[in-house]
Amino acid sequence: MKLKQQINSILLDALQQAGIEAQAVQVSDASKPEFGDYQYNGIMALAKQQKRNPREIAAEVVAHIPTDGMIARAEVAGPGFINLWLDTNWVSQSVQMLVGDARLSVDTVDTPSKVVVDYSSPNMAKQMHVGHLRSSIIGDTLANLFAFLGDEVIRQNHIGDWGTQFGMLIAYLEEMGEDGSGSLSDLEQFYKDAKGRFDADAAFADKSREYVVKLQGGDVHCLHLWDNFIDKSLGHCEEVYSKLGVNLTREDVRAESSYNDELAGIVTALDDKGLLTLSDGAQCVFLEGDENPFLVQKSDGGYLYATTDLAAIRYRVQTLGADRISYVVDARQAGHFRQLFSVARQAGFAKPDTRLEHVSFGMMLDKSGRPFKTRDGGTVKLIDLLEEAVIHAKEAITSREAYSDEELERIAEIVGIGAVKYADLSIHRDSNYIFDWDKMLSFEGNTSLYLQYAYARIQSILRRYEGEVSGAIILTTDPERALALKLLQFEDMLHRAAAESLPHYITTYLYELATLFMKFYETSPILKDDVDEVTRQNRLQLSVLTGETIQRGLGLLGIGVLERL
Ligand code: ARG
Repeated sequence: MKLKQQINSILLDALQQAGIEAQAVQVSDASKPEFGDYQYNGIMALAKQQKRNPREIAAEVVAHIPTDGMIARAEVAGPGFINLWLDTNWVSQSVQMLVGDARLSVDTVDTPSKVVVDYSSPNMAKQMHVGHLRSSIIGDTLANLFAFLGDEVIRQNHIGDWGTQFGMLIAYLEEMGEDGSGSLSDLEQFYKDAKGRFDADAAFADKSREYVVKLQGGDVHCLHLWDNFIDKSLGHCEEVYSKLGVNLTREDVRAESSYNDELAGIVTALDDKGLLTLSDGAQCVFLEGDENPFLVQKSDGGYLYATTDLAAIRYRVQTLGADRISYVVDARQAGHFRQLFSVARQAGFAKPDTRLEHVSFGMMLDKSGRPFKTRDGGTVKLIDLLEEAVIHAKEAITSREAYSDEELERIAEIVGIGAVKYADLSIHRDSNYIFDWDKMLSFEGNTSLYLQYAYARIQSILRRYEGEVSGAIILTTDPERALALKLLQFEDMLHRAAAESLPHYITTYLYELATLFMKFYETSPILKDDVDEVTRQNRLQLSVLTGETIQRGLGLLGIGVLERL
């Protein structure tokens, strides 16, 4: 249905009829109820161009807005704003169309594209830690969202599985016994022990260096050890994905090493385009206005992270056919991606209209504002953190209700993991985010628990009603209307979140929706005896739709709902 698009087109028609030229107009949500439902604030700029009085132009436009359909009222306000009120009957009828529609009237994008989402992408030499949490959660949400809106999504887990440290790791794995499953159960420790050996024993260090060379040369024994190592390491990641409800499988893995054979060709292609400069023996691309060169080949002939990323872009654009590539990687790599995108375009690896975006995010901090660490200063392992989430969730929910052991386990998992994900997604991704158990597991405020609670409350109303909900939506009171309009805005919000790759639009929306529902619920009795059946059906329908919208919204974030809480 795309509400805003419809209003924009009504407004554009009115502008044209008033003889004012404009290419496109964009209404925004009104910031206060007295400003209507939507507001247009573009008149001032148009008036400036035409050297005319903005209020005068606004009045002419308003005179041409039909008020017998979707819009009931249009008014000039302030220096030349146009405030718009939707017709309440129109809202009733439109919300009615959401009933029984699994997509809640959410249309797909006008022109679907092929989107590659590069996310999680951990390094295999180490255990996944909290730093990878954000990429996995944000990336997965975006991939779900793009797919729901009709894009063809290709998930890419660009794991770091290549580099000199693997010589040391496989040499150590060999010492530990070929299979190595036992010693690899804690990768962090394994890495530390291997490094310890490397620093203490010159013979081991030599062997490590020899194994790097052999590995790169395709030596069967070394490759076998390496395969084994990567397999175990990836297994750890998969444990975390499954606990987190992140939709990444082995099929989505396209490791750094898979591009090895193309790296020499990448450097040649850059050379052919005349983009390379030899600097201290290294092959570099110098970019305008950037004093740091983009290094693609070291003086010893070795390739770099950047070279692999160029090969990956070329593969994604030319082989996969990507129109848009979203890299969900922390903000510290902003410089790398700026350079990468520029070089990829100059080299023709990406097309001029390929949308390349670094979906950057801030750091995870503890309550005192320091980078998130264990008590003794080590890195917090993701799997431990998620187990802790479930324990905290148990405390939070049992303070309210008694559950059987089995039920408690199941509910705590959904609540705890949901809380970790929601807390991450609910702030602007570029902000650093403060990890605080009490805040994220509160029944009050912008939390997943608040939404899960609202959902459970709705289900309990429906259980108590027992009958069939099938009546019409006829909005009469303000709380009903406000809730209904919010329900209609789900679609616009999702498209905006996808266009800007900003998941917190979804959480903000859901929080506002649940808050409006709570207000509605307090002021609008549903099951009480003195409520007439027409009113009851209307309110039940609104409740059902609210529940479905919360469920769908949380679902896109990979967070579950509960029938009882
Ligand atoms: N493995 C990298 C890291 O942990 C992230 C890779 C992101 N993706 C990419 N195409 N560069 O820092």
